[in-house]
Amino acid sequence: MAEGLSFRQDYLVDPAAFEALAALLQDTFGIDIRPALTLAGMDRTTVPFGYFDEDGRCVANFSMFSMPLMVDGERVMAAGYQSGAVRPEHRGNGLYRDLMRRAFAHARATGHAADILITDKPGLYEPYGFRQVRTFGFRGKAPAAQPGAVPGRGVSPENADDVALMVGLLARREPVSQRFSVMDMRELFLLNALWQKDDTRLTHLPAHDAVVAWKRDGARLELLDIIAPSIPPLAAICAGLGGGFAEVESRFGPDQLDWPGAEAIADNHLHLMASGPLADRLNAGPVGFTTLSDF
Ligand SMILES: CC(C)(COP(=O)(O)OP(=O)(O)OC[C@H]1O[C@@H](n2cnc3c(N)ncnc32)[C@H](O)[C@@H]1OP(=O)(O)O)[C@@H](O)C(=O)NCCC(=O)NCCS
Repeated sequence: MAEGLSFRQDYLVDPAAFEALAALLQDTFGIDIRPALTLAGMDRTTVPFGYFDEDGRCVANFSMFSMPLMVDGERVMAAGYQSGAVRPEHRGNGLYRDLMRRAFAHARATGHAADILITDKPGLYEPYGFRQVRTFGFRGKAPAAQPGAVPGRGVSPENADDVALMVGLLARREPVSQRFSVMDMRELFLLNALWQKDDTRLTHLPAHDAVVAWKRDGARLELLDIIAPSIPPLAAICAGLGGGFAEVESRFGPDQLDWPGAEAIADNHLHLMASGPLADRLNAGPVGFTTLSDF
């Protein structure tokens, strides 16, 4: 280990150290994690593992958090990992290996049954038993139009009342797919909604007590996510979003949408990885992964 570095944990509650972590992630990935704090607070399950230098700079980080999943109708408490970065001048010294090992051991010690992460460097994680999960979109014809539907209202992650509405729904949400979906994860949803606000629409359908995340491309509806205590059928969603759709592509499995006949189309944009047994279950049939659960 490089001299002058100290291992630290639990630094999310130390404002100066949190700023140092934010700077590492800004410099490495060009992202600003500070809005997470003002919007919904930090996910309270997050446990960071990191090294700091004598000047208080965070030079390496790897964070673990609890990510409850729905897999084939069964709740699986997975550990998710994110914010993995080492400053260039400290790379190649085993810092990341050390942090990965600590984080994976912590996940086991705290009862997490599986692991999940998103990466463009699968080779980093394969030695630790991670396997690629193939993800799909689900495409098919839009259901027949429903007359007399009440149109939904656009909501914004920058409006406090709308955030309160979404927080309430997130607490009561039904898994968007029983086959595979992320559960709870309030902070993650709101942060993604904020980061994706320029190309993702959020619409509240009061008749269904639902907020739908979606995009329109001509007559094609791209369905990204739904937060609702009971997932409405696709026909009701299309009507509440204004109708006029010929085709729908869902980013999550369509098993709750009352929409038979959707075709699974391989989606090669995302490099989702999971620990071996979980990856095997997910690869046994097509699964989707919504951008609102991106991490
Ligand atoms: C990827 C990164 C975190 C590695 O950090 P590091 O401290 O240099 O890594 P280590 O020296 O601890 O190496 C750990 C292992 O990963 C391997 N490794 C390092 N970089 C790798 C890469 N780009 N792809 C695949 N494997 C890699 C090493 O060979 C080493 O293997 P070993 O344990 O069998 O010897 C660092 O290069 C980085 O911050 N890159 C930019 C951000 C990034 O890509 N983060 C990962 C996001 S998922």
